[in-house]
Amino acid sequence: MKIFLDTANLDEIKKANATGLLDGVTTNPTLISREKLCFTDQVREISQVTNGPVCLEVISSKAEDIIPEAETLVKLIGKALIKIPAGEEGLKAVTALTAKNIPTVVTLCFSPLQALLAAKAGATYIAPFIGRLDDIGVDSTKIVEQMIQVLHNYNFSTKIIVASVRSPLQVLKMALLGADIVTLPYKVFSMLNTHPLTDIGLEKFISDWEKFNKATNTTTNKNIKE
Ligand code: E4P
Repeated sequence: MKIFLDTANLDEIKKANATGLLDGVTTNPTLISREKLCFTDQVREISQVTNGPVCLEVISSKAEDIIPEAETLVKLIGKALIKIPAGEEGLKAVTALTAKNIPTVVTLCFSPLQALLAAKAGATYIAPFIGRLDDIGVDSTKIVEQMIQVLHNYNFSTKIIVASVRSPLQVLKMALLGADIVTLPYKVFSMLNTHPLTDIGLEKFISDWEKFNKATNTTTNKNIKE
């Protein structure tokens, strides 16, 4: 499973990237606006910090405007994946951009039928928003399972970037389904590698080692003879 970070915050991206586990970054207009920085500088810096692709979302709503906007974003950073909202105009633009070999992510995707149409239009990725589905009482696991089934049935190459993730349990459910990518807020990313039993166990190892040091006058385990 690839892991993207769902943020435009440079410090968070740097911290996640330092783990060696980061495969890319997703942004959206809300995340970009939170940083209150110059868009072009911010996006260039993000692209320098991460090795993987960076998802940038279009603001235009008509296909004829989405297409040149997408081209501008790709010129800004070569590794941009262009996020385009699901819907008629969006899919028209996806069809045109696919013909130009510009990679797209159909975002705001909430149903398996939207996924089917996005795949038919040639979307490189689709982004189901699972947190927002769960918020309104819809079982997002079922929806993503159906999306995977539909893509598989027709042998589409379109991959899934699971978005709007709020908890480690959601990440586990998506991993069990075999989702290609999850994009995570930094908080959820860091929670994946923490467990209270790890902390308790580590504390005990350290304190037992310190007691042993005192009793035997050993300072570190570097005293081991090779
Ligand atoms: C990412 O690509 C989406 O824009 C994002 O995950 C949405 O998350 P939210 O539902 O928490 O705003």
